[in-house]
Amino acid sequence: MKHWPLFAAFPGLEAALQPEALAALPTPVEAIPALGAKAWIKRDDISHPVYGGNKIRKLEFVLADIRRKKSRHVITFGATGTNAGIAASMICRDAGLPCTIITFPQPETATVQQNRKWLQHFGAGLQARSSLWQAVLSFYLHPGRLRSDNYFLFAGCSNPVSTFGYLNAVFELREQIEAGLCPEPADIVVAVSSASTLAGLNLGVALAGLKSRVHGIRVAAEKLGPFAACTPAVVEKMQSDALRFMQTQGVHMPAFTLPAVNMDGTYFGSGYGEGTEKAAQAMRIMTQASGLPLESTYSGKAAAAFLDRLATATQPVLFWNTFNSRPLPQEQP
Ligand SMILES: Cc1ncc(COP(=O)(O)O)c(C=O)c1O
Repeated sequence: MKHWPLFAAFPGLEAALQPEALAALPTPVEAIPALGAKAWIKRDDISHPVYGGNKIRKLEFVLADIRRKKSRHVITFGATGTNAGIAASMICRDAGLPCTIITFPQPETATVQQNRKWLQHFGAGLQARSSLWQAVLSFYLHPGRLRSDNYFLFAGCSNPVSTFGYLNAVFELREQIEAGLCPEPADIVVAVSSASTLAGLNLGVALAGLKSRVHGIRVAAEKLGPFAACTPAVVEKMQSDALRFMQTQGVHMPAFTLPAVNMDGTYFGSGYGEGTEKAAQAMRIMTQASGLPLESTYSGKAAAAFLDRLATATQPVLFWNTFNSRPLPQEQP
């Protein structure tokens, strides 16, 4: 199977994007028999041999952009237990680029503690701020904005090129369906926060001609002060930016209907990083059924939605697992 089946469908795109192969692709798609015949999982938790999760697919395209812009220092922001920051600092370390992460506090959990070790392991330069607002201000008003060799990467490694990572992922899934490795899912369930994963999946499903319906399970606040942060409109903008980019590159696209962005906020609970009883229960069930670790900020809330959907499903349902399952190198068995 190809690493970027997206380019087989749209050959004009490769030269424009020139991604770097960082991920171990395709990621497996597997049944979860303990949850019944309709339950499937896409294993982006092992998207990289050292640290997996959903950021690696995005970073293939982001690193190419960093190189195109000749940037020499990556600056991003995220919560103290940022998975995106871990992935970015790993890729930066491997590319010989310093990575600075401006952090804001989140509820302390075992995953957050473990993630601190990961960040240290990859040599991330951490600058702690006392609130999300302080971190956002430090990011946007950073004195380094005046230097052209700094690359400012939005939280969650989401930016216009990152959407192509998950567009490609859908074409990868289509190849797996065509190869008979899994049925075409009626529903795909995924966590949504900085949103380019959902944007890529939703647009990808349309461009790849799949009938699956993508359900983004919102795990971040809809607004950051007066600004829209995690809303369908934000996802729609990412989709249309990606489409416009394809059009400007002269990529020939089939006629397609873009499905409405489907975002479900009912699993969010009281705030970003705040656990919910449903998520805790889903984490226990999923770990027992699949052997995979989940966490309470993203994948646990998405898993709760997946299990609810599965309970009444008549067609296959796919849980897109976005949380790394590789052990910290010094803790490997
Ligand atoms: C484990 C995990 N799942 C899901 C997401 C959400 O992905 P996105 O930010 O593209 O919406 C994140 C983002 O930080 C994450 O770390």
